[in-house]
Amino acid sequence: MSAVPLQGVAPGPEGALVVVVSIDLLARKRAKHAITAITAYDYPSARLADEAGIDVILVGDSLGMVVLGLPDTLRVTMEDMLHHARAVRRGVQRSMLVVDMPYGSYHVSTDQTVTNGLQLVKEAGAQALKIEGGAEIAPRVRGLVRAEIPVFGHIGLRPQAVNRMGGYRVQGRTQAAATKLLDDAHELESAGITALVLEGIPREVAAEITAHVNVPTIGIGAGPDCDGQVLVWHDLFGLFSSAPAKFVRQFADVRSVMQRGLEEFREAVEARTFPSDAESYHLPAGTDFHQHPSPAVSSCEK
Ligand code: KIV
Repeated sequence: MSAVPLQGVAPGPEGALVVVVSIDLLARKRAKHAITAITAYDYPSARLADEAGIDVILVGDSLGMVVLGLPDTLRVTMEDMLHHARAVRRGVQRSMLVVDMPYGSYHVSTDQTVTNGLQLVKEAGAQALKIEGGAEIAPRVRGLVRAEIPVFGHIGLRPQAVNRMGGYRVQGRTQAAATKLLDDAHELESAGITALVLEGIPREVAAEITAHVNVPTIGIGAGPDCDGQVLVWHDLFGLFSSAPAKFVRQFADVRSVMQRGLEEFREAVEARTFPSDAESYHLPAGTDFHQHPSPAVSSCEK
């Protein structure tokens, strides 16, 4: 568990739960102590991440692709986010819970953004929200901050802009594009963001942004110089059969463990070695159950 002494944050008494909040992330940046973040979409994964001492748990709209089987994140709804965020909330005690605002929930107006943002905070217990976009969404960030909602920005490769970008492509590769990203980062910082996710950009650009903004940056496919790193749960555990992106490091091969477990379960059921007698309940000793004539055909045999 990452337990760097935080500037400006009083440590809890021995054994007490210290909940991660926005100010802690800033302290981490200043202390050059890397911030850890992971996505989660349900109660058991949230509990695991929380107990592992991960700083930030993000209910990402990537849930559309990795959990709901959608081709992209564009069809993820507020109802989807609320449903999954509520489940994650129940599993989180210590980590900071950040929830993605889905595509279309903040694109119409600042009023719409704040209305939807408040719903994610009030009904799902989000401590912060994440929205994708650069300078153009600064008014939306201001609206959320005015409503006392901490905001994570997200620039670079923005999955919600997949149609405009023409695919999931690394962004900021030209000098003009890199400069625009730095400008966006400054605009979002001025608008009051708490942290900034940098996705799919050259390491050099991420390093420059990280050095020039005062808010923590959290990278995914943005190299090692960000203030922290985030990965998608299913990528970290190798839960997909397809080849992962270049930036993904698979920290465990849970897919093959699960696959083997399922095969062993099927084999044991088919061989009638599961459940065993030891895995069965029994009547109290001496109970005579065979007092009535048994039916000719049991319900299993019908
Ligand atoms: O939706 C998501 O999982 C994300 C991360 C990739 C940062 O936005």
